[in-house]
Amino acid sequence: MSADHYFAVPLLVRDVEPAVRDAIRAKVSAYLNSEAARRDIAPSPEESVATSYYHPDASILEDAGLDELEALVLRSAQSFLEQTLKLPPRRIEVERAWINVFEPGAQEAQHSHDGSLLSCSYYVEAPENCGCIVFPDPIGARRSYRQFTKTAGPDLLTRQDIAVAPEPGRLVMFESWFPHAVQCNKSDKPRVSIAINLREAQGPAAAVPGRAAEKVRGADIPGAHVAAPGTVQDPATSEARAAAPGNRDASSAAREPARSAGTPAPSAGKPFLFNELFEVRKNIGLDLNAVQDTIPTVVIDNLLQHPERVREVIGSTPATNWKHEQGGRNFVDYYDCRLRFPIRHPNSLVSLAQQAIAKVYGINTRPADASVDVNWFMQINARRADFAVPHSDISEPARRSFTCILYLNAPEECSGGTAFFRFKPSNSLTFDEGYARAVKEDSRVAETGLDYWPEASREHWKLAGTIDMVPGRLLIFPSEYFHSAHHPVDSFYAFPRLTLAFWMVN
Ligand SMILES: [Fe+2]
Ligand SMILES: [Fe+2]
Repeated sequence: MSADHYFAVPLLVRDVEPAVRDAIRAKVSAYLNSEAARRDIAPSPEESVATSYYHPDASILEDAGLDELEALVLRSAQSFLEQTLKLPPRRIEVERAWINVFEPGAQEAQHSHDGSLLSCSYYVEAPENCGCIVFPDPIGARRSYRQFTKTAGPDLLTRQDIAVAPEPGRLVMFESWFPHAVQCNKSDKPRVSIAINLREAQGPAAAVPGRAAEKVRGADIPGAHVAAPGTVQDPATSEARAAAPGNRDASSAAREPARSAGTPAPSAGKPFLFNELFEVRKNIGLDLNAVQDTIPTVVIDNLLQHPERVREVIGSTPATNWKHEQGGRNFVDYYDCRLRFPIRHPNSLVSLAQQAIAKVYGINTRPADASVDVNWFMQINARRADFAVPHSDISEPARRSFTCILYLNAPEECSGGTAFFRFKPSNSLTFDEGYARAVKEDSRVAETGLDYWPEASREHWKLAGTIDMVPGRLLIFPSEYFHSAHHPVDSFYAFPRLTLAFWMVN
C-alpha cells in the first residue's frame, strides 16, 4: 500500500548573471549615499531593520534606477506563474518596492505579505552569516503532532522549515501569503535587500519592463579587427512606416518613456505588425569583424528600436517543437522549438542585411524564404556540451548563402552567443568534401535532430571563435562556415534563448 503526497508550495531561487548583479550593487550603493535614502530609510517601528517601507510614496526601483531588477523580477514572476503554477498568462506589475538594511544584530520576525500576488527579496549585500530567509512549513495544523515536522532536513513530509541563504545577486520569489522570517545578522557588515510586492496589472497600460537593453552595447570579440566600418542607411524603414498607418514615428517613440501605453500587452496575445515590432533604428553603423582573423562576420549592434517590446512579445508567443524525432532528446532534455513569421516587403530587417552583405561581401542577395524563424530553446536538464551540434547552413553549394542571426534576449538573460568551429578531420572551417563524407559515415557528426548537444565533440570539432550574444545584435556570416549556438554557462531554464534567424542567398 502506498499513499500519495498532496499540496506543495513553490519557491523560486534564482541567481542573476554577475554583470547584472554588479550593476545593481553599484546603483544601490550610490542610492544609499543619496538624499533620497536619507529621507526614506528609517528604523522600522516594530523590527530592528531599517527600511524605506514606511514611506509608501518612495520607490526604490525608481530612486536607485533599478530598471534591470524590475525587468528581471517581472519576467521571473511571469515564468513562476505560467510555468511553475501553470496559470494562464496575465500582466503583472510592481505594487510596492522597498529597501531593507539589516545592520549587524538586526532580524525580522515572521510575517507574510498578504494582499499581494507574489513577493520577492533580491539580495544586494549578503556578507557571510548575515542571516537566512526562513519559511516555516505553512501547513501549520501538522505541527499539532511534533513528529510530523521534526527535521530541518530535506524530507518533504517532515521538514519544519526551509532556509535560503542570501547571496549577492540572488532572487527569492514566493506566493505573498507564504510566511517567512529573517534570521539575525551575525556578521559585522550590513545585509541589504530589495523587497518587492507584485500584483496583477490594473488598467489597460502595456507594462514593458526595463529600459536596460538600450544601455548594452556591443561586446568585443577577442582577436577581432574592424575593417571598413561604415554606415548603412535603410531606405525600407521610411517606406514601411509610410505604408503602415498607425505606425509611430521613430524619433518620438524613442523619446517616450518605456512604460507608455498603446501597444498590446504581450500576454494578451494580440496581433502585431512585424515591421512595426521589429522596427530597425536608422543610421546604423556596421563593422566587419573577423573571428580569429579567419571567419568574416558582420556584427550590427543596437539594431532594434524596441528591444524590450520584441523580447516581451516574442517571449510570450507559444512555440512549437522544431525537430522532434522518435527517440530524440527534444522535450526530454530541452525544448528546441521554432516560431515562424511571414515577412512582407519592404522589410527593414531584410533590407539592412541585404545592404550589409552587398557592402561587405560584394554580393547581391535576396531572402531565401518568405519568412523568418525564431529559434526558441529552453533547457530541461543540464547542458551536455558548451555548444549545440556544429553544422553549416549550406543546402545548395552552388549558391552563396549568408546566415543572419538577431539576438532577442534581455540583457540579464544573455550568455554565450554563436560559436564557430574547425572540423578536425579535414581541418576546415567551412563545408567541404571531408565533412560531407564524415556526415554519411559517422552518425555522431551530422545534425540529425535527435540531440541538440553533440556527441564526441572533441573528436570532431575545435572551437575557432565566438560572437557574444548582445540584445539587438545582428550577426551575419557566410553560411558555409561551421557554427552552432554557444552555451558556456548553464542557463535558459526559466526563460527561452531567443534568436531570430533568416538566410540571404544570391
Ligand atoms: Fe517579508
Ligand atoms: Fe545554423
